[in-house]
Amino acid sequence: MINLVLFGPPGAGKGTQSEKIISTFGLKHISTGDLFRKHLGEGTELGKEARSYMDNGKLVPDEVVIGMVDDFLNENTDAKGFIFDGFPRTVAQAEALDELLSKRDTKIDCMIMLDVPQDELKRRLLERGKTSGRADDQNEEKINVRIQEYLNKTLPVAAFYEEQGKACKVNGVGTIDGIFEEIESAIKSHV
Ligand code: AP5
Repeated sequence: MINLVLFGPPGAGKGTQSEKIISTFGLKHISTGDLFRKHLGEGTELGKEARSYMDNGKLVPDEVVIGMVDDFLNENTDAKGFIFDGFPRTVAQAEALDELLSKRDTKIDCMIMLDVPQDELKRRLLERGKTSGRADDQNEEKINVRIQEYLNKTLPVAAFYEEQGKACKVNGVGTIDGIFEEIESAIKSHV
């Protein structure tokens, strides 16, 4: 079993690279952002609770996210490994993920951190906002809140994995295939 965390700021390319990692390594993708958007679309209570945070670029409370990930793991016991995209986003989430995996006799093998400068993140998200319909991509103010949430609450998660010797930084600027080649070799050297 291989379990990976794909880490990085909003617009770093986590979703884009997840698709390539899944097809190469046969892992199950879990994107907490995608799961929340699914709940929003279906109008569930969880979706209604998450909406106000997401629309304003703020993080959804830890207990809500962790419960949703626990459910996802329970629904996918046959997976040969997971790629966690956009989770964990706080140290409390990282600690909870270790517990959730330990209960299932497994662990995180490797955390890939996509490194992209802020100007490029904003450019990508504003561009995507023209067609994606995502409320949190609509203007620079919301994008700035998301980046600030990342810097304040999510970046400390990098140190959590660095201390365990599991972190690997990859340059997230360049062609999608070129970035994937670097990710692939980082994964192979860790698992
Ligand atoms: P989430 O959906 O996770 O959004 P995000 O982290 O802001 O990530 P994005 O989807 O915007 O970017 P990405 O890194 O996946 O990049 P992508 O591949 O799409 O979260 C949304 C919200 O949900 C959060 O704000 C929060 O409210 C809530 N939430 C989710 N998880 C949570 C958690 N764990 N805890 C609390 N709250 C949570 O690429 C972006 C764009 O760039 C695309 O248009 C793509 O085509 C383009 N692109 C990609 N790679 C390249 C490249 N190499 N060169 C040029 N363009 C590129």
